[in-house]
Amino acid sequence: MSLLFALSGKGGVGKTTLAGFFVRILVELGKKPVLAIDADPNSCLADMLGVKVPFSIGTARETMRDDADEQKISKHELLRMKIAQGLVESNGFDMISMGRPEGPGCYCYANGVLKAAIGELSRGYPYVVLDNEAGLENLSRRIVQSVDALVLVSDASNAGMNTLERLYSLAREMGVKYRKLIILVNRTREGRLPESAPRVQEYTGAYKMIALPYDEEIAALAEESKPVWEVSGGNRIYIAIREMLDEITKAA
Ligand SMILES: Nc1ncnc2c1ncn2[C@@H]1O[C@H](COP(=O)(O)OP(=O)(O)O)[C@@H](O)[C@H]1O
Ligand SMILES: [Mg+2]
Repeated sequence: MSLLFALSGKGGVGKTTLAGFFVRILVELGKKPVLAIDADPNSCLADMLGVKVPFSIGTARETMRDDADEQKISKHELLRMKIAQGLVESNGFDMISMGRPEGPGCYCYANGVLKAAIGELSRGYPYVVLDNEAGLENLSRRIVQSVDALVLVSDASNAGMNTLERLYSLAREMGVKYRKLIILVNRTREGRLPESAPRVQEYTGAYKMIALPYDEEIAALAEESKPVWEVSGGNRIYIAIREMLDEITKAA
């Protein structure tokens, strides 16, 4: 059984940055190998982790029908091959990029096969980190069947916290299954939770709600295109996420 962390939230709140921390810290805690899945077509989890993916498997899916006919193999077999080719292997973790959710030449059957193949791949890893696009599409489309820790990320603004509550309600309505809900309020002033925090915590029944400060070292990462491995061990965000993951992986 793998332990799957899925990060969701609106665009620009820090999902990819924090997903990078999750991967680094799990590896450092010896919780490996980790499978990192980039499920946001506009994202760059690969940059954050300092790796290069050869291609996203979404592109493979679009030409699947023709390719399968040509090579006289089953579509499932073909996708397994493509996924193996698209997987980057690094120290303690592997990474795969999903690419676009649905292209023009794409059809539902292929999506189903893709999901099955991703599920199959994930089951081979004890730890999986899924960096989602804004919204809940990947979870609702059941790219993953169930999530151990649903990590909702927000900024500290009132609008952001309201969006987070809506996202939570939507997840419930859609029947997204998770064991623990973790809320990360990112880029806060002085690492303090906003006033709306107790209300949101009560409404969502979150297992943990953690404030992460605005941090110059993190901001510089993106500006200088540096991977998460370069953040110092004394960084406040690094320490907060490490404590949380240490606790969760021990309890699991
Ligand atoms: N705690 C933080 N302090 C400073 N900058 C941050 C912090 N978290 C994220 N950022 C910056 O915010 C921007 C958006 O982050 P990103 O992880 O790409 O968000 P998302 O994946 O949710 O769209 C990036 O430039 C990133 O460096
Ligand atoms: Mg992102």
